[in-house]
Amino acid sequence: MKNILITGGAGFIGSHVVRLFVNKYPEYRIINLDALTYAGNLANLKDIEDKPNYTFIKADICDFEKMCALMQEYDIDGVLHLAAESHVDRSIKDPFTFARTNVMGTLSLLQAARQYWNGNWDGKRFYHISTDEVYGALELDNPEGDAPYGSEFFLETTKYNPHSPYSASKASSDHFVRAYHDTYGMPTVVTNCSNNYGPYQFPEKLIPLFINNIRQGKPLPVYGKGENVRDWLYVVDHARAIDIIFHQGKIGDTYNIGGFNEWKNIDIVKVVIRTVDRLLGNPEGTSEKLITYVTDRAGHDLRYAIDSTKLKNELGWEPSLQFEEGIELTVRWYLENQEWMDNITSGEYEKYYQEMYKDR
Ligand code: NAD
Ligand code: TYD
Repeated sequence: MKNILITGGAGFIGSHVVRLFVNKYPEYRIINLDALTYAGNLANLKDIEDKPNYTFIKADICDFEKMCALMQEYDIDGVLHLAAESHVDRSIKDPFTFARTNVMGTLSLLQAARQYWNGNWDGKRFYHISTDEVYGALELDNPEGDAPYGSEFFLETTKYNPHSPYSASKASSDHFVRAYHDTYGMPTVVTNCSNNYGPYQFPEKLIPLFINNIRQGKPLPVYGKGENVRDWLYVVDHARAIDIIFHQGKIGDTYNIGGFNEWKNIDIVKVVIRTVDRLLGNPEGTSEKLITYVTDRAGHDLRYAIDSTKLKNELGWEPSLQFEEGIELTVRWYLENQEWMDNITSGEYEKYYQEMYKDR
């Protein structure tokens, strides 16, 4: 039996990873540790919460004493660390929270694992899930052409150059994880993934926010001219990659995960509009009038594009879905799960959202 600690398992990507591990590995005991911040939602895991190999613990990764006690109590062999503050716009307003959770929280977990494992690294693994945003921004040197929009891609060897408080905090946590490998010999692995989309994503992020706003006839706030480029990956494919890398990734190594799927924001917004309108039975183009260009995000990175060739060549992972299929599944899911969305967007969050967008 393996005892696996997954942090941030009540969030968007974490819930897909927990679901995959609980269903695929009945012989593992999966401990989902989450502080249930605004982004954590146990409704994301309703379908697996009664499984015998699943345990939920509400705790803050920054609570070092608690992390030490849990490592011992559950005799943890493997850590999949996803807990984080994850939204760039929030990091611009409140950078301290990002440094606390992403940097100090990661350090607290690393140190708790190190003390518990005490140099007996056999069969142990600390897997840190990170983002492509740590690499900085790429040029848009083919702005009018078809994707890809530029000649350069992020490689595992690309120098870190983060710009937002979010990416700076994730970069710092990545460095700490590598330092624990290089200094103490901890069996770590780090992955840097591109933008994810799919079911259970908190509706402050572009795709679920826009699906929900279209459904409610609200404006769609496109930052700047909508020309920033992101590389999108269906969340279930990210979870599949995490499973493969957790089991087969080389200790001390880094893998990029991405879909070779670049989109300008304005084009993705139009795809989302077309899909929602079609599924709601609206005439084509109905919701295009909701597009509203607003003040750009401060320090808005122009282009992200991941080269995940290493992961394909070494471990055989490739995205399983075409983008069109992924978007169709995603839009259908949000339209069929309006209660999930309404529970999140009512009350406190609505106030926060109004505040966040009042200057735009
Ligand atoms: P999310 O915001 O949806 O979920 C984060 C989860 O962490 C929430 O459940 C929250 O309650 C929990 N959490 C926050 N602070 C905590 C703390 N102090 N202690 C314990 N739990 C805490 O984020 P996500 O989009 O699912 O991202 C998960 C991870 O993947 C993050 O590390 C993020 O940097 C990384 N990542 C995300 C993307 C993306 O597109 N969403 C892409 C690449 C990498
Ligand atoms: P987001 O989902 O916040 O992810 P990230 O900033 O981590 O890439 O945003 C994706 C892109 O969409 C990013 O370029 C910012 C842009 N965006 C908007 O234009 N309007 C919005 O309301 C949001 C949330 C994002």
